[in-house]
Amino acid sequence: MIHLEHLTKEYDMPGGKAGKLVAANAIDLTVPRGEIFGLIGPNGAGKTTTLKMICGLLAPTAGRVTVHGVDVERHPEQAQRHLGYLADFFSVYDDLTVWEYVDYFAHAYKMAEAVIPGRVDDVIRIVGLEAKRDSFISGLSRGMKQRLGIARAILHSPPILVLDEPTSGLDPKARHELKQLLVELNRAGATLFITTHILSDVEEICTSVAILEKGVLLRCGPLAAVMQEARGGRRLRVRLAAPGFGLAEWLAAQPGVTEVMADATSAVFLLAGDDARTAELVGRLVVAGAPVCGVEDASENLEALYSRLSSGETM
Ligand SMILES: Nc1ncnc2c1ncn2[C@@H]1O[C@H](COP(=O)(O)OP(=O)(O)OP(=O)(O)O)[C@@H](O)[C@H]1O
Ligand SMILES: [Mg+2]
Repeated sequence: MIHLEHLTKEYDMPGGKAGKLVAANAIDLTVPRGEIFGLIGPNGAGKTTTLKMICGLLAPTAGRVTVHGVDVERHPEQAQRHLGYLADFFSVYDDLTVWEYVDYFAHAYKMAEAVIPGRVDDVIRIVGLEAKRDSFISGLSRGMKQRLGIARAILHSPPILVLDEPTSGLDPKARHELKQLLVELNRAGATLFITTHILSDVEEICTSVAILEKGVLLRCGPLAAVMQEARGGRRLRVRLAAPGFGLAEWLAAQPGVTEVMADATSAVFLLAGDDARTAELVGRLVVAGAPVCGVEDASENLEALYSRLSSGETM
């Protein structure tokens, strides 16, 4: 649905200094239909820049974007029909009501007069703002304003939603509810491309993830695969029913096993390999006489992985 090819953006250096600031550096990535794709990275990584290029709001220095097979730079209007965009900061017109605001954009998008009132009511309901339909925007909370922005983005029923920091600045309850809304929009058929700083949100709702730093894509792919690849394997915890086996020594002698931390009845270690490799190792451990009473996934979460990646540690 979204395809980036060597997408690059260079800005002039601030203060007229020589050289260029490369905000997006030859980014290649593909977002298949039906995904909730999360782009994560620290402040200044180039996330907003990348999103704006996807939406045709910023011209790339090099490379290209296609959405739904349409070249965004060559046919921006056609591409934008497939896209709904929520900016990180968007100005809302405080002296309009919720209904008036959405109605205003329905007209701006040149929707057919006859369908506008029904569609406006529909999107207000979808984002859960029925109770605020006739309230002035100035009286909405930040979470409600985010919902209003989403109502605007989905007005023309685009198959792709591009959302810049949709959950930032929200309290835990509002964040939770907004994530529910994103999941519902995804279930209803939309492909989502979101940026966020909040890694637990990515783990909770995203199907794929890309890690961007200083304009460079460090990792990209399905969530589980990115995390497994970045770790160089899977981290497992084995527990024994009784001490006396010598777990640490046994594990240290196994090929593909590293980073063993063990005490008398349990061990956590990194295993290079997949499910089959795990099953084989556990099978041999039992045959060797260890009273195995538990094998668990002890993977680090995205937070830990991310801080390891961005501190420049190599895998
Ligand atoms: N219009 C601009 N002119 C010059 N430099 C810019 C411009 N917009 C962004 N930059 C620079 O490009 C880099 C990437 O910025 P961008 O806003 O894309 O990052 P981001 O990942 O969205 O950050 P944040 O998490 O803070 O939103 C930053 O170094 C920023 O200062
Ligand atoms: Mg940004």
